[in-house]
Amino acid sequence: MNNQDIAQAAAILKRGGLVAFPTETVYGLGAAADNPAAVKRLYLAKGRPLDHPVIVHLAAAAQVPQWAREVPEAARKLAAAFWPGPLTLILKRTPRAGDDITGSQDTVGLRIPVHPVARALLEAFGDGIAAPSANRFGHVSATTAEHVREEFGGNVDFVLDGGPCEVGIESTIIDVSSGRPILLRPGRISAQDVERALGAPLVVGTNTPPRAPGMLAAHYAPHTPIALVPAAALYDRAMDLLRRGQRVAVLAHSMPLPTLDEQLVWILLPGDAAGYAHDLYANLRRLDQAQCSVILIEQPPITSEWAAVRDRLARASG
Ligand code: TXA
Ligand code: MG
Repeated sequence: MNNQDIAQAAAILKRGGLVAFPTETVYGLGAAADNPAAVKRLYLAKGRPLDHPVIVHLAAAAQVPQWAREVPEAARKLAAAFWPGPLTLILKRTPRAGDDITGSQDTVGLRIPVHPVARALLEAFGDGIAAPSANRFGHVSATTAEHVREEFGGNVDFVLDGGPCEVGIESTIIDVSSGRPILLRPGRISAQDVERALGAPLVVGTNTPPRAPGMLAAHYAPHTPIALVPAAALYDRAMDLLRRGQRVAVLAHSMPLPTLDEQLVWILLPGDAAGYAHDLYANLRRLDQAQCSVILIEQPPITSEWAAVRDRLARASG
């Protein structure tokens, strides 16, 4: 990955092509945000319903007024505190933010990422890039370039490889388009972080889909069934299934592999929320390919720093 790759990727976007690129959260599948033909290809490649809005990625806050007609005080505070970074703001849209990227809603989602490759691409392209997570609709998001290629094969014109994503789960989404800021999707930036920056309490969204499809029950889901199991029951559940002749996958974060068994695929993730989130999707993919009848996932702690991980695991398990 070098400057030539960035220039080539920007040229592809200008011609209406699709470019996958790394961000600090997950990989995005990008198209020129004001090119309806390119956006249409993007939705087709993802298999995503047309009424599900996408996030417009920008290089700088100076571009926000092109897409958002009102930037309320709360949005200014959050942008100042967390941009560039893993935060998406939902704002009232301008006419430039078309029906095709907003799902025909009156709002648009905007984010200024901090990842150097994303920033270089946004600067070279010079305009908004519409980019959902680079996975087929309903699948686990991609956190490496290799996983992007697994998802899309030849349906992407260019993949910028920036190595594994640092955060590992999608951005925090705050709707600041009405009077009261609403948390639509938890992420690395926690509800507490947002409240501190706002100096005011946050409403937790009870949004109905398809407003934010990340909020659909069966999202971020592998094909193998998933069961969330309390730590105290994890070992017994796994042993019971093995005894019944099943091949079992386990995703733990506090218990190392208890016993060697060819039919037991046991992964121990880091015991801290940030480390766990970083490794989560890549390991869900690994376990999904391990030909097991079920993936048992050790229930994460109920503390606030694990909120975003709990959210993704709840959706992955339906
Ligand atoms: O971290 C991320 O946010 C990644 C990277 C690539 O930036 N992107 C991502 O995009 O996760 P996607 O499309 O998989 O999820 C974006 C979420 C969706 O749930 C979508 O409904 C919501 O943002 N969203 C976008 N525009 C919206 C709007 N106007 N109102 C409500 N939700 C919106
Ligand atoms: Mg997604």
